[in-house]
Amino acid sequence: MTAADVAKIGILTVSDRASRGEYEDRSGPAIHEYFTEVLGSAWQPVARVVPDDQKTIAATLRELCDAEGCCLVITTGGTGPARRDVTPEATEAVCEKMMPGFGELMRQVSLEKVPTAILSRQTAGIRGGALIVNLPGQPKAIRECLDAVMPAVPYCVDLLEGSYLTTDESRLVAFRPKKN
Ligand code: MTE
Repeated sequence: MTAADVAKIGILTVSDRASRGEYEDRSGPAIHEYFTEVLGSAWQPVARVVPDDQKTIAATLRELCDAEGCCLVITTGGTGPARRDVTPEATEAVCEKMMPGFGELMRQVSLEKVPTAILSRQTAGIRGGALIVNLPGQPKAIRECLDAVMPAVPYCVDLLEGSYLTTDESRLVAFRPKKN
């Protein structure tokens, strides 16, 4: 297996308190754990923790997509209505196209769990060869949101000419349309 066969996945925790070390980041590790459980193909995490600052978030997204070559970047936190919540703005600022279906679906499934799901402005978009997906900051939201969108993620990464992601099908089945 060559290094190119190992998919790099960016895990970006956005939190003032976690970035200052005042709070243990539980959401970033939850994303790591999720992919360890669900992915069948080789992958490597590239994890970062940054404060709720739009320029810093955008610069880190650019670094993960362009310099690190991640095919997928998952952010957690900073999607709500509070003054410091700017992760969706940073995501939009670095993406060439937005993928609004991701946010729509994640809010829909999250609403079955918690009425405050409508407070998340989580979205997704494409930068170069990477899909960026925002998740809320709550550790329990990670699994709920990723279970909803993951079936479509490997095919999205195929369309971006990234790594061929496979899943442990006893856990989650990825959907790839059949070629005619
Ligand atoms: N979605 C899920 N699945 N589970 C949750 O607990 N919390 C909500 C919402 N979406 C939540 C959720 C709440 S309370 C808020 S304020 C928003 O996400 C934004 O959270 P964030 O600012 O940490 O991103």
